[in-house]
Amino acid sequence: MAELSWEAVEEEIRGCNRCGLCERRNSIVLGEGDRSADIMFVGEGPGGDEDRIGRPFVGRAGQLLDKMIAAIDMKREDLYITNIVKCRPPGNRTPLDEEAQTCLPVLRQQYALIRPKIVVCLGATAAKYLYDPNVRITRMHGKWIEKAGVWFMPTFHPAALLRDESKKRDAWEDLQSLAEKYKEIKNAGKGD
Ligand code: URA
Repeated sequence: MAELSWEAVEEEIRGCNRCGLCERRNSIVLGEGDRSADIMFVGEGPGGDEDRIGRPFVGRAGQLLDKMIAAIDMKREDLYITNIVKCRPPGNRTPLDEEAQTCLPVLRQQYALIRPKIVVCLGATAAKYLYDPNVRITRMHGKWIEKAGVWFMPTFHPAALLRDESKKRDAWEDLQSLAEKYKEIKNAGKGD
């Protein structure tokens, strides 16, 4: 196995052409935030603004995500934020399975380096690959599962909340649940 380091990950994706998303992208959006964060947020893939700027969640959905994070007294710098695919799917379509599968090793390496205690899956694509392949967000949002000592929770993608405001209350409750889980984990870790 190749060396596990951020430099190796950055080197591996530089100029990546492993899937068709390379053809129309402007930027490879690896992710950003605290590389030793306890909490990782994973979305679907960069949109137009992210592709132009090279950072995740900087467009309208990103601005809403910032507000959601602020609502639980956190800042995006406290977390690590990334996506299932690192290049923009044309027209912001859902990534194809082969695109997601091709890109997932990068996310696995990020995960192995960060070693988060909590992973929040933003929307159905992230939840499908990280939580449950048959996920239904409307039914499963806010429900925690533990895998090898790491807690995973799916919630609504902020873009879905922009399209349908009626989901905001549920999303808000999911974030409260995240804040609770984080507190629990922090308290459990005391005295380690
Ligand atoms: N939507 C996503 O899933 N990710 C981004 O980075 C931006 C919008």
